[in-house]
Amino acid sequence: MTAAVAALVVAAGISAVSAQTEWKAPPEAKNIKNPQPPTPASIANGKKLAEANCVSCHGPGGKGDGPAAAALPPPKPADWTSPKIKAETDGELFWKISNGRGAMPPWKHLPEKDRWDLVNYIRSLQK
Ligand code: HEC
Repeated sequence: MTAAVAALVVAAGISAVSAQTEWKAPPEAKNIKNPQPPTPASIANGKKLAEANCVSCHGPGGKGDGPAAAALPPPKPADWTSPKIKAETDGELFWKISNGRGAMPPWKHLPEKDRWDLVNYIRSLQK
């Protein structure tokens, strides 16, 4: 494990609240429409953002198997290609990416467009 990953894991551990119950976005999040069409440019930007911000936990293919995942207590980083994540709406994923929970950091500081590009990238992995 690199020092950077170790530091990330420690930081995540401190902010982690006990969050064992199923993570549900509020009902109003479900219907938020994705304003960003899944163009190649949008997906490419999502991939770039994921490589910079998400793969340490979610893994290069989004399967939840990043280098930091092993050290995190449950709930583990989600497998973006799982049926559970497939079944969620774009709005729910956007809300969860924005708000975070436990070891999953909130990404509200990223522009909304970037967060939708991340949703489009996650969808592209599910095909
Ligand atoms: C420090 C580790 C970490 C990083 C970095 C991280 N995540 Fe997560 N992520 C998690 C964990 C842990 C969960 C499960 C949280 C839970 O269920 O309480 C999760 C869950 C998720 C979920 C699934 C929510 C659900 O249940 O439907 C999505 C989508 C997601 N992350 C997207 C992202 C994106 C996009 C990024 C980068 C911008 C990112 N994550 C960065 C740890 C991380």
